[in-house]
Amino acid sequence: MSIIEKAASRIDQQRQNAAATPAAVIVADPQEPITPDAGYVPARPPAPAAPAVSLEAAPAVAPAVAPPSGRQSTRRIELDLARMRELGMVTAAGGRTNLLEEFRIIKRPLLKRAFIERGPKDNPGNLIMVTSSLPGEGKTYSAINLAMSIAMELDHTVLLVDADVARPSVLRTLGLPAQRGLMDILLDDKLDLADVMLRTNVDTLSILPAGTSTPRATELLASSTMTAMVHELAHRYPDRVIIFDSPPLMLTSESRVLASHMGQIIVVVEAQTTTQHAVKEALQQLEGMANVNLLYNKTRDIPGIEETYDYHYG
Ligand SMILES: Nc1ncnc2c1ncn2[C@@H]1O[C@H](COP(=O)(O)OP(=O)(O)OP(=O)(O)O)[C@@H](O)[C@H]1O
Ligand SMILES: [Mg+2]
Repeated sequence: MSIIEKAASRIDQQRQNAAATPAAVIVADPQEPITPDAGYVPARPPAPAAPAVSLEAAPAVAPAVAPPSGRQSTRRIELDLARMRELGMVTAAGGRTNLLEEFRIIKRPLLKRAFIERGPKDNPGNLIMVTSSLPGEGKTYSAINLAMSIAMELDHTVLLVDADVARPSVLRTLGLPAQRGLMDILLDDKLDLADVMLRTNVDTLSILPAGTSTPRATELLASSTMTAMVHELAHRYPDRVIIFDSPPLMLTSESRVLASHMGQIIVVVEAQTTTQHAVKEALQQLEGMANVNLLYNKTRDIPGIEETYDYHYG
């Protein structure tokens, strides 16, 4: 039985056991059968968007996430946390407690693997990519929520990289205008991370926007400059987690190139929409990569349960 079929049968099971449904579950391995007592966490659909937020001058405080050059970014954005909460996202100020709990569960194994001892040839575990088979499955939404959730940890700082360079959406989703970013650094060797990295009003969270769109994106992501930059990002701060919001695997070659730098990969699977074939194809593209995880997202049509995450790793 496929993962999707297993998940579907679990939803049926949950319908039957609605009263006794547990809060959340982690299934340890996609190859393992999904246990009948496994449950889903309900998550509310997003509310209408609030007004956009503004850019601000940098305050005097030192950033929790400094760029690898050691030079501090002077650019700062103000995340509208109230708006994020209204959109149903994780914020330190509360909001969807179910979603908070879901991401608490999702991030645990990722954090555990992020900082374990690695072989010399292994990619750093603190480089985590969020991708999917097809567009619209929830990569950006999941990447932002995961970043916020890890930023709320006492021991970690987070850099959220918009690596969906063809269709950047991290800043747009946050209600902010596009900015220079990753592509600009790779295109212009005079530019440094400090010139484009954005500090935020969440002290432990910084954002690296996608930057200027270029037809050379795949080559740039495969370049030695990118390899050096990613290495520096991973190693400069031992407590830092870097999350890459990425393009879908089946439509572009950029995601495969990005995956080759990563220590952990999350494949978001949209419930009841993504076909088995699409999931299989996506996983085939990641063959040989370590720590590929599936995140089952947007479960709908369950009475009393509107949106859901579930997480499979192996
Ligand atoms: N678990 C969820 N709960 C509520 N809304 C969600 C959830 N996951 C995704 N969405 C919504 O679904 C839509 C698509 O999500 P998102 O933009 O994250 O997808 P994507 O995979 O990044 O798309 P693209 O491939 O275009 O970059 C957005 O409106 C987002 O707010
Ligand atoms: Mg996206």
